[in-house]
Amino acid sequence: MTKPQLLIDTDPGVDDALAILMAHAHGDVAGLSVAAGNVGLAHTMRNALTLVDLLGVRTPVFAGCATPLVRQSDEDAAFVHGSDGFGDIGFAEPIATAQEEVAAQALLRLTRERPGELTLVALAPLTNLALALRLDPTLPERVARLVVMGGAVTGVGNTGKVPAEFNIGFDPEAAHVVFESFPQFDLVDWEATLRYAFDDTQFDRWLAAGDHRADFFGKVFGTARTFNEAHARRGVIAADALAMAVAIDPAIVTRAERRHVAVELDGSLTRGATVVDWAGRSRREPNANIVLEIDAERFAAMVRHALGAPTAS
Ligand code: BDR
Ligand code: CA
Repeated sequence: MTKPQLLIDTDPGVDDALAILMAHAHGDVAGLSVAAGNVGLAHTMRNALTLVDLLGVRTPVFAGCATPLVRQSDEDAAFVHGSDGFGDIGFAEPIATAQEEVAAQALLRLTRERPGELTLVALAPLTNLALALRLDPTLPERVARLVVMGGAVTGVGNTGKVPAEFNIGFDPEAAHVVFESFPQFDLVDWEATLRYAFDDTQFDRWLAAGDHRADFFGKVFGTARTFNEAHARRGVIAADALAMAVAIDPAIVTRAERRHVAVELDGSLTRGATVVDWAGRSRREPNANIVLEIDAERFAAMVRHALGAPTAS
């Protein structure tokens, strides 16, 4: 397999962190464009830079949108990820610094410099991508693939608006722009994430056997783990890591269905829900390749490698 060439839009975030570790372990990363989401932009930027320091890489980090495109969101995910998005450990100020270029422009420039080469991996609310698309609607023509972590394809969401998943629910208008603009994308939804949660004991073994990346992840993961346990969420849920696995190696997907997916913008109970045309009744061309099943062993091996744990542990 040739090394995947990745461009990542992210709001780190604990599971974003694991995904970014995986991206650097398995691929080349052209840049991190950062949005607000799990926590505010000052924290997500700082966390992205902390990861760059941890990895000792020179991956450029671009600051993006601090708010959704149209309506302010009434919830973030600090209650899962910690008030700073990284488990409130109190990491030192990062040494790496942000680029001056803003995220949307960086997405456009990097894809112009390398047309058809980059897989765009969207792990955050889709605000930066939507803005880039409004500036230049030809963006999809220059991207090799788009992989989106978002949505809940049968309405089992994870936000206060019951059927909405966080990334879509935080900025539904942005998701609408992206879903209407990209003729094709891979969709890794929240429900797939729940199906492929890791066993806690097994994951702890990987953390114990890993290197400095495992030490780091073990620390930042504490708040999210406590939240999950208190809310009867089973195992180690790693939404962004699953999307990253699909981005790194599309062959990991063993079952997917192509369907049209739209975003509910207005519903008082359903704003931010992903509406899947399972029966083809809208007669609209499918835009999403919905990931339903993956090779769990290969996913686990990718995560272990990213934590520096031997593959046999
Ligand atoms: C998604 O929302 C965020 O909390 C996670 O980082 C992930 O991107 C899961 O719904
Ligand atoms: Ca995320």
